[in-house]
Amino acid sequence: MEEKIKEIRESIAQYQGGSVEDFKHHFSGKKGAVTALFDEFRDMPGPEKAKFGKLLNELKQYALERQQEIQDQQESSGPSTGPSDPTLPGDPHFNGSRHPLSIVRNRIVSIFERIGFTIASGPEIEDDWHNFSALNMPEDHPARDMQDTFFFPEGLLLRTHTSNVQVRVMENQKPPIRILAPGKVYRNETVSARAHAFFHQVEGLYVDEGVSFTDMIQVLDYFAKQMFGSHTEVRLRPSFFPFTEISAEMDITCMICSGSGCPVCKHSGWVEIMGCGMVDPAVLQNCGIDPEQYSGYAFGMGIERITMLLYGVNDLRIFSQNDVRFLQQFQSLTPY
Ligand code: PHE
Repeated sequence: MEEKIKEIRESIAQYQGGSVEDFKHHFSGKKGAVTALFDEFRDMPGPEKAKFGKLLNELKQYALERQQEIQDQQESSGPSTGPSDPTLPGDPHFNGSRHPLSIVRNRIVSIFERIGFTIASGPEIEDDWHNFSALNMPEDHPARDMQDTFFFPEGLLLRTHTSNVQVRVMENQKPPIRILAPGKVYRNETVSARAHAFFHQVEGLYVDEGVSFTDMIQVLDYFAKQMFGSHTEVRLRPSFFPFTEISAEMDITCMICSGSGCPVCKHSGWVEIMGCGMVDPAVLQNCGIDPEQYSGYAFGMGIERITMLLYGVNDLRIFSQNDVRFLQQFQSLTPY
């Protein structure tokens, strides 16, 4: 008996790698070796019982401790210790998606970068000079009313367009200047499907010797064809901005109906996408650039508007609601 106890203790000590079920099967379970010894013990004569009882109980205790160890190991190494099944489908992996406004902004930026424009940025909290006065909108100029402004005390305001970046760059750099200014802008408007208190613009500026209106048309035509497809046509309509002279608004053939007329283009075949024009000589002068030597063009577009046209979004508010059901629809475009 003593010999057997020793042997089993030895095998328990050396037992490795199996599951709890396997361990029980060999040792501590109903048909295990330890249990079998107890059966033998029950049939022993009295004096022998006294001799082996203690040893046997110690063996049982040891077996149960080992069993617990094995169980702990098994639990910490995951639910299944069996061989993994390589034919099972993988765990689903959800990628994030870029915001549609970022996708469209990145596309616009990459098109202009290809033809030599670089990115410039400026403050969203701006002073009156950079947002208005330098851009030919002195105090009391009626054009200021077009851009309902959020004012802070002490003459600061939330910029109403990214043209402030143009002023800052012209003040600090010598021509040639060829920049693109994407960014957030603010207007004190009642929030609705068609208007919002904040939105995003991309503005461009090119100043050098001998820059002409035709240069601008070429660049904007190139942009429109890259952005909306090679069949896209552009059309300019005369307009007014205080900081450009001459000024125009640019339309493109409607990307929904290709010009044949639909509700999006109000059956005209054309949709407006940006304002543009030759930088007013007074603005160049305000920024320390000699208008006798240099000329330039500028253009500006709303990113929300272009995104709405491209993807058939009909409510501005959805861009800032963080509804994943909306955002997830742009997953496949996320590389942009
Ligand atoms: N700054 C103008 C706006 O916010 C857009 C614009 C930029 C128009 C440059 C012409 C030239 O409406």
